[in-house]
Amino acid sequence: MQRIRTRAELATALKAAPRPIGFVPTMGALHAGHAALIRAARAECATVIVSIYVNPKQFTAATDLAAYPRTLDADATLADASGADLLFHPSDAEIYPPNEVVQTVDPGPLALRLEGAARPGHFAGVATVVSRLFDLAQPDRAYFGEKDAQQLRVVEWVTARRTSAPRISIRRVPTVRDTDGLALSSRNARLSPAGRTAAAAIPRALDAARDVLAHGASTVVQVRAAALHLLSQHSELTLEYLDLADPLTLEALPDDATVNEALLTIAVAVDDVRLLDECLLGERSAS
Ligand code: PAF
Repeated sequence: MQRIRTRAELATALKAAPRPIGFVPTMGALHAGHAALIRAARAECATVIVSIYVNPKQFTAATDLAAYPRTLDADATLADASGADLLFHPSDAEIYPPNEVVQTVDPGPLALRLEGAARPGHFAGVATVVSRLFDLAQPDRAYFGEKDAQQLRVVEWVTARRTSAPRISIRRVPTVRDTDGLALSSRNARLSPAGRTAAAAIPRALDAARDVLAHGASTVVQVRAAALHLLSQHSELTLEYLDLADPLTLEALPDDATVNEALLTIAVAVDDVRLLDECLLGERSAS
């Protein structure tokens, strides 16, 4: 695996890179979830590029950006072992050159809801950096985890509106979970042992919502209550939001709506770490 720091080196490497090119953008602190993305790219692409860039434009709290784990050497080992050919880890100046006006990329209507409402500007930051990374890596396929379901949909929306070549296909890769059910995330490393135990209630709350729906509950308010009950047993968890939304528009479903299909999203803070998990409820998730 070749390590690359600059746009110029990347452009040179791309000239010799056989297509299709698979691209896995990350912010580092790689774990088995990222390994699954890289392996998915390896399975269907002749060249696999992984990027590691902690994008300041998508953080809404400076403390969160400062606390974001940076583990480049371990990341390089994992990326290499998972099948990456090129590891691109640029500096800020390579992504946002100081002499260039950075045009913020519109993340579209889906970015206004859920995480977008909780963290204004977050998805504009994601859309902007992903577009820049796509311009630099020129991939045919790009791989994103279903764990961040809203990010995935925003990236799909942005990518569908790209006018520059090549045409990029967005590939969805299922969430990887730990043995206690907690979705893998680079942020989990910052949890205390007590916080970690409490955080394991998040996937159990998703399961509780699925169960109650399977056993006759039907309205948003009933499903939400089942999930909230699980979370309320852990005082370490501070709930930010628990939303059932239309899976296509991401618009919140009203309390008395019948849940046929819904994206259930839970955002909590624990030990000052923000955790997000989500699942698709209803007919399509059962098929
Ligand atoms: O999911 C992430 O790690 C980031 O949001 C991404 C897609 C690499 C953009 O910075």
